[in-house]
Amino acid sequence: MKVLVTGGAGFIGGHVADAYVARGDEVWVVDDLSTGKPANVPAGVAGFLHASVLSAEARELCRTEAFDLVNHHAAQVDVRVSVVDPVRDASTNLLGLLNILEGVRDGIRETGGSTRVVNVSSGGVVYGEGVPRPTVETAHKLPVSPYGVAKLTAEVYLDYYRRLHGLEAVTLRYANVFGPRQDPHGEAGVVAIFSQRLLSGEPLTIFGDGEQTRDYVFVGDVVRANLMVGEAPLPTGAVLDDFAFNVGTGAETSVHRLADTLEQVAGTGTGRIYRDARLGELRYSSLDTERLRSLGWAPRVSLEEGLRATFGWIRDSAS
Ligand SMILES: NC(=O)c1ccc[n+]([C@@H]2O[C@H](COP(=O)([O-])OP(=O)(O)OC[C@H]3O[C@@H](n4cnc5c(N)ncnc54)[C@H](O)[C@@H]3O)[C@@H](O)[C@H]2O)c1
Repeated sequence: MKVLVTGGAGFIGGHVADAYVARGDEVWVVDDLSTGKPANVPAGVAGFLHASVLSAEARELCRTEAFDLVNHHAAQVDVRVSVVDPVRDASTNLLGLLNILEGVRDGIRETGGSTRVVNVSSGGVVYGEGVPRPTVETAHKLPVSPYGVAKLTAEVYLDYYRRLHGLEAVTLRYANVFGPRQDPHGEAGVVAIFSQRLLSGEPLTIFGDGEQTRDYVFVGDVVRANLMVGEAPLPTGAVLDDFAFNVGTGAETSVHRLADTLEQVAGTGTGRIYRDARLGELRYSSLDTERLRSLGWAPRVSLEEGLRATFGWIRDSAS
C-alpha cells in the first residue's frame, strides 16, 4: 500500500509509520517537527515532507501521490495549550485536517482511485463528564476543552466527506497512550513526567487529590489497532459513532496507583507534592473496546509491563 502518516515524527505516529514500513508499504510522512523528532521517522520511508498539514505542499502531496491510506496523527496535542489558545488548537486540529482531506479529494477526483483515512481522535476528551464507564462509542459527547471540541468536530467533518464525497474514513478514539518515545506534553504525559522525576530524585507533583483515573493503553497495542482498521471492511451505518472505535483497555488507573506502580518499577520513591486540579480535564475516564475487539483486536501489554518498557526507555535515553 501507498501510505501517508501525518505526524509521523511524533510519539504514536512514529511507531505507526515503523509498522507500515516493516509491513513493506511505501510510506510517506508529513510533520512540521513542532513536537515530533526526526529520529522518530523510520529510516525506510519513501519521503519525508517537513511541513505543516496546513501547508500548500502537504495538500499538493495528497493530491499528486494518490495514497491508498492516509493515517492522520498530526495534531496540537496539549489540552492545556488548547485552553490557553483555542485558535492555535483549531488551526492545526481542524484546518490542518481539512487541508489534507481537500488534497485527498482532489487526488480522488483526478485519478478515480480511492483512499481510506484513519483519523485519530481522543476517547479521553470527546465524551462528557459522568457518562457510564467503561464508556461506549455511542455515549453522550460533551467535550470540556477546546482540544476535545476540535477532536469531535474533526469527526463530524470526516462524516461529511464520507457521506458527500465517498471517502472511506474511520476514526480511532484513543485512551491515554503511553510507551517508549513519549514526551511529557501528550495526554499520557504524566508517565514521562513521573519517570523523569523519579530518575532525577524530585518529588512527583499530583494535580487534585490523586484519585482521578485514566485508561492507559500501551503504544504497541495502539499500533495494532491502526493496522487493523486500515484494512478491515469499512463499517456500515448511518451515524458518526458507527465509524469510530475506542482504543483502550477498559481498566481505570488512578494517579496514585500509577505513581505506586512507577515507583515499584523504578525501585525508588521521591515523595509527592499536591497542587490544585487542572481546568478542562475529566475526573474519571475509561473506554469500552468491544467494537474493536469484535474485529479481533485486544490489548496485549499490561500496565506494569508497559511502564517497565517506558521507564527503561526514558532512563536509557537520558543517559
Ligand atoms: N498520547 C495520547 O495519549 C493521545 C490520546 C488521544 C489521542 N491522541 C492523538 O494521537 C495523535 C498523536 O499524538 P502523540 O501523543 O503521538 O503526540 P506527538 O506530539 O508526539 O505527535 C504529534 C505530531 O504531530 C506533529 N504536528 C503538530 N502540528 C503539526 C502540523 N501543523 N503539521 C504537521 N505536523 C504537526 C508534531 O510535530 C508531532 O510529530 C494526536 O492526534 C493526538 O491528539 C494522543
